[in-house]
Amino acid sequence: MSEILVVYYSRHGSTATMARHICRGIESVNGARARLRSVPPVAAVTSVAAPPVPEEGAPYAESRDLRECVGLILGSPTRFGNMAAPLKHFIDSTSDLWLSGALAGKPAAVFTSTGTLHGGQESTLLSMMLPLLHHGMLLLGLPYTEPELSTTAAGGTPYGASHVAGVGGKARAPVKEELALCAALGRRVAEVALKLQA
Ligand SMILES: Cc1cc2nc3c(=O)[nH]c(=O)nc-3n(C[C@H](O)[C@H](O)[C@H](O)COP(=O)(O)O)c2cc1C
Repeated sequence: MSEILVVYYSRHGSTATMARHICRGIESVNGARARLRSVPPVAAVTSVAAPPVPEEGAPYAESRDLRECVGLILGSPTRFGNMAAPLKHFIDSTSDLWLSGALAGKPAAVFTSTGTLHGGQESTLLSMMLPLLHHGMLLLGLPYTEPELSTTAAGGTPYGASHVAGVGGKARAPVKEELALCAALGRRVAEVALKLQA
């Protein structure tokens, strides 16, 4: 089985929900399996180290997860039009993989959740692609052959999957177009990874 690694940060659960649907898309491809991992929060002043295993959500990603995967999908909430600091912090810990070229040539994609429709989904997705390019990864987006990309009135972009969770109170669950595009992104990375391996 070839494993696609899905790594996300999520404070309130929306990005985590997207990650699970992306995993379903990956696992719909024969020969592909999803490995779901999260990253710990960061604080300006660290008084207690994060526990090795989180109390909820996926286990924390380790360097070996990145080495072992045949494709990578990164997810983060949008924060001020950019990825959240915990995901950036995790990426900044991957210099050894950059030095050895461990990720070069592997396919990759990105996804995000925002509070508002025009709150910076595309800028966040693009910002998440930059370190992946430095790693030599092959970036994939979503093609307009996915019908939901043209019909969505919520999230979903050619740069990657996205979700509009709303502001204040309880976060909105992803609508069917957003879910379909999450699954399509997972499927696409898995299919390309298997073709590259062949
Ligand atoms: C510090 C901070 C900055 C944020 N910046 C933005 C933003 O620029 N645009 C936006 O639409 N939403 C913004 N949000 C809202 C989150 O992107 C949104 O609630 C997201 O769905 C949270 O994902 P999660 O449930 O996975 O934590 C921000 C939230 C926080 C806490």
